[in-house]
Amino acid sequence: MSELHSLLGFSERPVTRERYVETLRAYLRAGVPATYTLEQVAAFEKDGDQGEVTAEDSSTTPLHVLARSLPRDLTEAERAVVLELMDMLFEYGAGWNFLDYEGKTVGDLLLESGEDSETGPLYRRLVEAGVSAELLLRKLNGGEIEFLEDDDERDPQECESVERPADEGPVDPPVDPPVDPPVDPPVDGPAADQDTYLKTTLEYTDDALLTQGDKHGVMMEWETEIMKLAADTLFSSVEDDAPIVLNIGFGMGIIDGFIQQKTPKKHYICEAHPDVLAKLREDGWYEKPNVVILEGRWQDTLNKLLDDGEVFFDGIYYDTFSEHYKDMLDLYDVVVGLIKPTGVFSFFNGLGADRQICYDVYKAIVELDVNNYGMKCEYKKIDITKILPDWKNVKRSYYNVNYYYHPRISFL
Ligand SMILES: C[S@@+](CC[C@H](N)C(=O)[O-])C[C@H]1O[C@@H](n2cnc3c(N)ncnc32)[C@H](O)[C@@H]1O
Repeated sequence: MSELHSLLGFSERPVTRERYVETLRAYLRAGVPATYTLEQVAAFEKDGDQGEVTAEDSSTTPLHVLARSLPRDLTEAERAVVLELMDMLFEYGAGWNFLDYEGKTVGDLLLESGEDSETGPLYRRLVEAGVSAELLLRKLNGGEIEFLEDDDERDPQECESVERPADEGPVDPPVDPPVDPPVDPPVDGPAADQDTYLKTTLEYTDDALLTQGDKHGVMMEWETEIMKLAADTLFSSVEDDAPIVLNIGFGMGIIDGFIQQKTPKKHYICEAHPDVLAKLREDGWYEKPNVVILEGRWQDTLNKLLDDGEVFFDGIYYDTFSEHYKDMLDLYDVVVGLIKPTGVFSFFNGLGADRQICYDVYKAIVELDVNNYGMKCEYKKIDITKILPDWKNVKRSYYNVNYYYHPRISFL
């Protein structure tokens, strides 16, 4: 193991196929693991219990070692060799979303080494590996994406792939790696599942909608600029002067305010939580002549609209809480049935946003998935460093990436 790690320290230059690829192949063929070892996991658990994790005896993976040691002055030829090394490690089961002793993903380390998230070949290779692994995992699970729940920040393999994650946990390791990293029991609480969330009391503050007690951020005012952009997108392909739009998830009604400013012919709002419905009533949304409120989960209310076949939307927006990407996969079926051929679908893109590599992987997965419906997803990238909050008053940050990819999905 240490020989493998020392090889990937790139102490010898130049980085050639003969020296590095062939030696790595020999190690892996001899059974040296491409990912965590059982000993590392045990050490990690032990250290985790004691609240102390040291670099010497806790988790890292060969890919992490490679990413940490990358020479800054790699030539093109050397970079091609590093790509081959990465390919080989993936072939032997290296995980794309594992965390090391500093809680970093390989993606974090590659970005720190100077790779660009959109054009860096090594980072892009990692994203590709993540996409393939997630899609394979979905196939293995018979279409279901499995989520492991874990509150422990230092879980060695943590990568969330959820919409508005709050406390929802990491995805399973992408493929069956040689050593299964430890998995802690599911978190309790409102973010973990819809049944619990819908029974949890909510409270509106000046700048947020929170769950009472735990203070999970259901919606926060910092997203206002994103909601404005989303509202504009919903009206971006309207063909007549009588647009009909649907917003799934009212929350603080920020996007609904922007939608109303555009005086749509009909503005449907689908909302499931009784406290939010009470707020809609209190604030007079039921009296607005162009507003139709669909009370209940979209899973229950939208199928009725589909069956009736009487309304088709110019724009549909989706932004809920305590749902997972597998819910979005179900939603795509409904969206294609309810949207006009010229219509636009968009959603709050917090998928995997607590880690940049996960965010980039899910960005690509959405593109592929909507493509299967004959739709394309175009992203607008916006810098949100200046609007991100300090998360002081909420249990946990649900967005840790410095930019936002705003999705605009329409038929090809
Ligand atoms: C993040 S907030 C929406 C924020 C909104 N975009 C805004 O601009 O204020 C999520 C909302 O979705 C609602 N919700 C969660 N699951 C839902 C479901 N399955 N169907 C309908 N609404 C749901 C929640 O109760 C909550 O009001």
